[in-house]
Amino acid sequence: MKIIKMKKRDEFGTQFGALLALIGSAVGLGNLWKFPYMAGKNGGAAFILLYILFMFLLCLPLMLSEFTIGRRSQANAVGAFKKLAPKSKWYFTGVLGTLTAFLILCFYSVVGGWSIKYLLTSLSFGFTENINAKEQFDAFTSSSFAPVGMNLIFLGTIIGILWTGVKNGIERYSKILMPVLFLMVLILAAYAVTLPNATIGIEFLLKPDLNSITPQVVLEALGQGLFSLSLGMGIAITYSSYIGKNENLPKLAIITIVMDLIFALLAGVAILPAVFAFGFQPNEGPGLLFVILPEVFARMPFGSIFAIVFFIVLLIAALTSAVSLLEVVVAYLSEQRKLSRKKALILSGFALGLLSTLCSLSLGVLSEFKIFNLNIFDSLDALTSTFFMPLGAFFISLFVGWKMKKEEVYDELSNSGRVKIKAFNLFIFLVRYFVPTAILIIFFNKLGAFSSFF
Ligand code: PHE
Repeated sequence: MKIIKMKKRDEFGTQFGALLALIGSAVGLGNLWKFPYMAGKNGGAAFILLYILFMFLLCLPLMLSEFTIGRRSQANAVGAFKKLAPKSKWYFTGVLGTLTAFLILCFYSVVGGWSIKYLLTSLSFGFTENINAKEQFDAFTSSSFAPVGMNLIFLGTIIGILWTGVKNGIERYSKILMPVLFLMVLILAAYAVTLPNATIGIEFLLKPDLNSITPQVVLEALGQGLFSLSLGMGIAITYSSYIGKNENLPKLAIITIVMDLIFALLAGVAILPAVFAFGFQPNEGPGLLFVILPEVFARMPFGSIFAIVFFIVLLIAALTSAVSLLEVVVAYLSEQRKLSRKKALILSGFALGLLSTLCSLSLGVLSEFKIFNLNIFDSLDALTSTFFMPLGAFFISLFVGWKMKKEEVYDELSNSGRVKIKAFNLFIFLVRYFVPTAILIIFFNKLGAFSSFF
């Protein structure tokens, strides 16, 4: 008799481990360089309330949809759709998601590399008052060797974390890194509020201003929510496929969302008082982290220590998000393409190494090479956030809302009736109507903004 040896699929060992991995994916650059400024600029507490509302009306249903698909099928993002809707074209949603994750990682890892370099600079107490942070940043990012090297080190690190699998890799490292991250952000925030004039920063973040809530701001809040929770590209599908059948999915989703929000707010409390205390104005994006903050660190008491802790935070936040992006690709390659996990990592590592190097060089020697008028770095960013992520999210919500049977969705979310689900009908309503409509509106709005590049 032939004995068929079924290899058990790797999964998270504990609910807590799964949770930390999910939070690790969500908390990233978006929380640090986008949310604080966005909230401050667009109405403070009024914006934050609106953001919380969308987190629950849009992001929660979407996250639960991804969870339903992932845990029901126990497969990677492409395999999941093939299992749940065989002989249909739905699996393209998974293909799109996997491609999106891959492309985002190409530029995300470049920024990950920058954070390694800035951590090294802070460790050598390199932020001094006579530096010109802007010039230094431009000189560094547009040079050819250092940023490429740092980027490759960053990629190597996430490959190393994934090498040993889900439980012994992602989960083990999340369990170490996420508490460190949380503690460090708390320390930074606690110190920042003791700075002179700290209240100006807190006021900037929180002062409610209803008049700033324009339709444009509403759309940006929606888009930021999706990005911040890493939705629309199969990450939550992939991660939830490793979550045991007894874990409470709605609870996991709600805690992930709340923690992501807490991190975003704490980041604001850590960054903004410091910025204002030394007479700077915040902005969003890389300029905030790599230009304004180094100037602030140079002037702040205990600034060099603050800088070290800050760049460790940045690096951890970027690492755990990048790990989740690569896991989508690796799960696909190993399950659909039948490669061993290690081969999948090597193959995707090579491809990523190559493309992200081009991305990094596109800020320097390759800056003349344009796609749609944008350099490679910016075009990948625009392509993924304008087109791919919203489209992925759109199809995911349609799949759960309209293609899957309502009973099947209920069965999965309630662990076959063992967990009580409140407001299931509201959930179905949101997934069927509200989520796809909201995403389409975001999509066309972004498309409008995008067309200005042509
Ligand atoms: N959620 C991460 C952040 O806030 C970014 C991210 C987006 C990570 C998409 C993975 C996928 O920075």
